[in-house]
Amino acid sequence: FLKPLHVAKAQNRSQRSYTYTPPQASYKVAVLGAAGGIGQPLSLLIKMSPLVSSLNLYDVANVKGVCADLSHCNTPSVVSDFTGASELANCLKGANVVVIPAGVPRKPGMTRDDLFNINASIVRSLVEAVADNCPDAFIHIISNPVNSTVPIAAEVLKQKGVYDPKKLFGVTTLDVVRANTFVARKKSLKLIDVDVPVVGGHAGITILPLLSKTKPAVTFTDEEVQELTVRIQNAGTEVVEAKAGAGSATLSMAYAAARFVESSLRALDGDSDVYECTFIQSDLTELPFFASRVKLGRKGVEAVISSDLQGLTEYEQKGLEELKSELKASIDKGVAFIKQPV
Ligand code: NAD
Ligand code: LMR
Repeated sequence: FLKPLHVAKAQNRSQRSYTYTPPQASYKVAVLGAAGGIGQPLSLLIKMSPLVSSLNLYDVANVKGVCADLSHCNTPSVVSDFTGASELANCLKGANVVVIPAGVPRKPGMTRDDLFNINASIVRSLVEAVADNCPDAFIHIISNPVNSTVPIAAEVLKQKGVYDPKKLFGVTTLDVVRANTFVARKKSLKLIDVDVPVVGGHAGITILPLLSKTKPAVTFTDEEVQELTVRIQNAGTEVVEAKAGAGSATLSMAYAAARFVESSLRALDGDSDVYECTFIQSDLTELPFFASRVKLGRKGVEAVISSDLQGLTEYEQKGLEELKSELKASIDKGVAFIKQPV
C-alpha cells in the first residue's frame, strides 16, 4: 500500500519520458503508545512513508530504544523520542496526524468493553494534550473500545473548544483489511482488487461487512454470507485466542493503521481520490457515531458515502438494525465518562 501512488506515477511518467520526482516528505506524524505491540511495527511502516518528514514517538517507557533503532533506516523522516507526560507537548507540537494505539489489549475471555476502565482515562489524557498542542491535526484512535473511545475523544475536544468532527477518526481499517482477505480467499479473487465496505462500529456484531457491496461484484450463497460475516466480526477474538494471553492483533493492526495514515497524508497532500471506512461522527443513521466509507480531503472527511447503506440485502438490513442498541450503549458510555461530575 505504500508504493502504489508514487510507483504508479513513476510508471506513467516514465512512459511519457518524464523524470520521476518522488513525493515531497513534508508531514509530521506523532504515534502515542509507540513502544507497544502495535506502536512499534506501525512506527516502522510510517518510517517507510515518502510523505513523512518527522516521526515523533511517544510512550510512558521504552521508546528511546525504539527510536534509536528506527532512526537507522535510510528513509526521509527524522525520528524523535518523547518519554512521559512532561515530554508529550513537545511530541505533539506541529503534528499533522496523531495516531493513538496507547492502552491495554484484550486477553482471552475479555470483550473490548472490558478495557474501558483503563483505556478511557488514557485516551482522555492524551486527547487533552492533542487539543492543547495540535488541535488542527487528524486524530486516529486505535485504542479499544473504539466504539466508546472515539466519543470520549470528541467530548474532550468539545470541552477544549477545538472539536472538528471531520478530523476525528476511529480506526476500523483492520475490519476492511480482514474482510478483503477473507472474501478474496473464499472466492479465489485477486487480493489487490477486492474491496468490502465494513460499517457500524468496531466490536462484535457492531462490525457489519456489506458483502453485497463487494468490489468487484461477486455473488455469495446465504451460507457464505453467514460464515464470512461471523468470521469478520470475530477475527479480533480469533487472534486474541491464538495469542493465548500475549495480547491482541498487532502486526495486521499496524499494517491497517499505516494504510489509514498513508491515506490521510495523501488526502492532506491534495490527492482527490482517497476513500476509507472509518468510525466518525455521522448522520448516516440515527446514531451519533457510525463507521462508513468516507472520502478524505485536506480538511478531513469531505463526504460520507451514503449510497453504501442503500439497497442492502435483508441479512445486512437485519444486521444494521441489530447492531444499533449495542453501538448506542457504547457511545453513551463514552460520552457519560467525560460528562460525569468529577
Ligand atoms: P500494548 O500493551 O502492546 O501496547 C500499548 C502501549 O501503550 C504500551 O507501550 C504502553 O506503554 C503504552 N501506554 C499505556 N499508557 C499510555 C499512556 N498514558 N500514554 C502513552 N502510552 C501509553 O498493546 P497493543 O497490542 O499495542 O494494543 C493497544 C491498543 O490497541 C489496545 O487497546 C487494543 O485493544 C487496541 N487495538 C485496536 C485495534 C483496532 O482495530 N482499532 C486493533 C488491535 C488493537
Ligand atoms: C481487533 O479487532 O483485532 C482489535 O480490536 C483487538 C481486539 O481486542 O480484538
